[in-house]
Amino acid sequence: MTNKEVQARHAELCRQLHHHSHRYHALDAPEISDAEYDQLLQELLEIEKKHPSLIVPQSPSQRVGAQPQTGFKQIVHRRPMLSLENAFNAEDLREFDTRIKRLLASDEPIAYLCEMKLDGVAIELVYRDGLLQHASTRGDGEVGEDVSANARTIGAIPLQLKPDAPPLLEVRGEVYMELAPFRQLNTQRREEGEKTFANPRNATAGSLRQLDPRITARRPLTISCYGLGEIEAEQPPTTQLEMLQKLHAWGLRVNLETLFLAEDIEAVITRYQKLQTERDNLPFEIDGLVVKVNSFALQQELGEKSRTPRWAIACKFPPRQEQTVLESVRFQVGRTGAITPVANLRPVNVSGVTVSSASLHNWDEIARLGIRVGDTVIVERAGDVIPDIVKVLIEKRTGAEQPIPEPTSCPACGSTVAREEGEVVPRCQGLSCSARLKEALKHFASRGAMDIEGLGDRFIDQLLQLKLVTNVADLYHLTREDFFQMERMGEVLADKLLAAIAASRQRPLERLLFGLGIRHVGAHLAKVLSRRFGSLDNLCLATFEQLLETHEIGPQVAASLLRFFADELNLEVLRQLQASGVHPEASAAPQGVHLAGKVFVFTGKLERFSRSEGEELVEQQGGRASGSVSKKTDYLVAGPGAGSKLAKAEQLGVKILSEEEFLNLLHDQTTGE
Ligand code: IVH
Repeated sequence: MTNKEVQARHAELCRQLHHHSHRYHALDAPEISDAEYDQLLQELLEIEKKHPSLIVPQSPSQRVGAQPQTGFKQIVHRRPMLSLENAFNAEDLREFDTRIKRLLASDEPIAYLCEMKLDGVAIELVYRDGLLQHASTRGDGEVGEDVSANARTIGAIPLQLKPDAPPLLEVRGEVYMELAPFRQLNTQRREEGEKTFANPRNATAGSLRQLDPRITARRPLTISCYGLGEIEAEQPPTTQLEMLQKLHAWGLRVNLETLFLAEDIEAVITRYQKLQTERDNLPFEIDGLVVKVNSFALQQELGEKSRTPRWAIACKFPPRQEQTVLESVRFQVGRTGAITPVANLRPVNVSGVTVSSASLHNWDEIARLGIRVGDTVIVERAGDVIPDIVKVLIEKRTGAEQPIPEPTSCPACGSTVAREEGEVVPRCQGLSCSARLKEALKHFASRGAMDIEGLGDRFIDQLLQLKLVTNVADLYHLTREDFFQMERMGEVLADKLLAAIAASRQRPLERLLFGLGIRHVGAHLAKVLSRRFGSLDNLCLATFEQLLETHEIGPQVAASLLRFFADELNLEVLRQLQASGVHPEASAAPQGVHLAGKVFVFTGKLERFSRSEGEELVEQQGGRASGSVSKKTDYLVAGPGAGSKLAKAEQLGVKILSEEEFLNLLHDQTTGE
């Protein structure tokens, strides 16, 4: 190719990639599969590698995340980023409306645009001639931090707008994380021994303020735009609703379907009350309703106070918090020996859910809260499945409260415990600790690992009591006679369990690696390692350097792997596993095309497979999994308890499948029937 041809191809690839990114993120209506998108991106990366002069800031290649920074520059907002006054009920809203009418000296009903108040982090994006110049946080409203490098990694933030976008456009919006990917992120962090985030807002703030944009790039962030800073347009919008529609048309992501134009304040109140009951069914966290005078002319007339506009208000929802008492603390011993404190709470109903325990996380957290047994506390449900204690009511103390001591011996086996430097919890050092072994077996048999159906708590407890297993490899030596020693065990059940154990020998390498419970190796990294090394033997022989060369593997994980494979007892278990017929191979990367271009959404309680397994099956066949139902959704796979997504799919005429039908579809497609 001549230089000119290369340039033309590069421009064409950029155009196509921008187009498809917009279809996917802003319209939720992709035209090509993820695999096809990756192919285009790969071609672009190769061209830019050979011709680095073609790399421009708006190139789709720049989304992967630049080099770490040492700090954030400051950016002065051309117009201050205001904040909102709060209302808490219908009465406050009526007062707001009365004030506005008084200021406008009018009795006419006011039209308000109602927007959901997303619980994330405010950001400003500045576009010049359609190109993203920089992105900044709100800061103190006047001066924010330059988070451009991080914003560029967020797929939902366009690097380039549509050709009809105005020459200068400053957009404000909320960066946030949807609940499903947030919970997945926390699960992954739990598996990898990292601290979890208390709620999606904290996870968003932590991700956006990363000095290393490559970390931000791996976090499932998205954005919804809600306002303007400066704009230079030939025909500027005249209402809030028109403005948001224009932003959307220019290529920005706006949750248009969540907007509601109310003809007067009573319609706003109805919307506020209805939303409060629907709040739990949304795919993201909201903490209220933002109410804005729709007309820009009226907004201007009303003006602003020092930090808040007079034409808008945030009507907040009550937090999902209740008061209760910390009755006692129990200690859980995990499979790595980590001893974590768990609060036993006097049961309390928190917005429809009975809460009787909460994680206390670790002793740093206990010290931070200053919590004692007997204390009256405030518990909150926010995003994560596990509730949190947010506050101790010191004024309710009677003097009888007792401090929570750090255990000096393992509550399960009595072995000594040690808290190493830099660790926030003590660990049981007993290698034959039954609690550790129980957790290790449960994890090994779990769905994401070796998936041994039926081998749950009850049988694992008995296997341990009868001393039939001392490590995971022993599972493969169990006989019918062994099982007959157990309570409530018949022939049928014993054979079923034996068959499930036997079937697990066929699981791919990544499942075994995950199942071994190596510290910091969760399901995702297990897959990365399995693809890179291909076999247990190769991984076992890998050097520190080879491990570090693997994308996503850092020094902490590499050191943990070396420690694991240096331990003679671990090697013996691996030898026993291999001797009993467990010879896992790495599963191949996505290959099929049977579902190419098809978009699937999973909802409800899935019983045959987890959501991530379902999504993986779809992706393996070239399809795409999405979190929300839209016109472009081809199939909704619905389990029991499906709610709003099912209703929406029915309304849009999307084909609805049961889990069974989904599996049949896959089977038919892959066998060509
Ligand atoms: S408007 C001039 N609209 O809430 C108006 N804010 O307390 C300034 N937020 O800092 C903000 N959703 O982070 C507006 N639809 C929405 C919003 C929203 C969430 C956040 C935003 C802001 C805070 C205001």
